[in-house]
Amino acid sequence: MSSATSAMKLALASLFVAHAQANSFGNSWSLPAPSSPNYIRVANSTLIVPDAPNPIVNELALWTGMGMSNGDLVQSVTINQPGDAEGGCGNVGSDYCVVASTLDDGASGQSIGNGHGTASPGDSVMFSYIYNEQTSNTDQYAYINGNLVSTYSSSNGAHANGFGTAEECQDGTPCGVVPQHQWTDITFVLNEPDESFADNAGGNGYSGGYMSTPDGGTTWYVSTVTIDEYDFS
Ligand SMILES: *[C@@H]1O[C@H](CO)[C@@H](O)[C@H](O)[C@H]1NC(C)=O
Repeated sequence: MSSATSAMKLALASLFVAHAQANSFGNSWSLPAPSSPNYIRVANSTLIVPDAPNPIVNELALWTGMGMSNGDLVQSVTINQPGDAEGGCGNVGSDYCVVASTLDDGASGQSIGNGHGTASPGDSVMFSYIYNEQTSNTDQYAYINGNLVSTYSSSNGAHANGFGTAEECQDGTPCGVVPQHQWTDITFVLNEPDESFADNAGGNGYSGGYMSTPDGGTTWYVSTVTIDEYDFS
């Protein structure tokens, strides 16, 4: 196993370890943080909302997350489930509830952000995670088609250890078949330039994810990551 693969697996493990064992994960794309003390200051990503799972049988969350140095997982989420959706949207049917949230230190609890919105297939859901120098918190902003619907601020004094996308089925399977979908316009700003930041990007069941930097390693741009269909039956 190459060291790049090991590093990628470690990054995935640190992102996902906070979750209850019972949850299952589909395909993903992720990358570890730049070497300490460097860190990710900004991570923006846009989900083109896919059709709901077929059949709708359980809670599915599509998200991007950042594992934080204090054990938190900063994760705005896009949720489809039967009945009332987590996040406060009520019954979303074959749509999704969009809400900012943080899974607190080692899954001691999930804090749900202020506000929520309902997104339909084809909508653009943008998650923006920004380190706030004034407060030392990480601020989350969740937008649907450019309209801000949810915010949350958390993880005081912590820095982002990595970034990843996820298809997550709560409390184990089944979650039906999750259609192929795309994350677009992923943008990172690092605290300091790191020309090797892209080297350990990886995952499973994805295509695309080509990373470019216009400024020698501080800002990184990914136009599209396509996440393959996943069968949670
Ligand atoms: C990230 O998103 C925020 C909106 O929440 C925007 O103001 C900022 O310019 C974006 N940053 C980059 C580097 O795209």
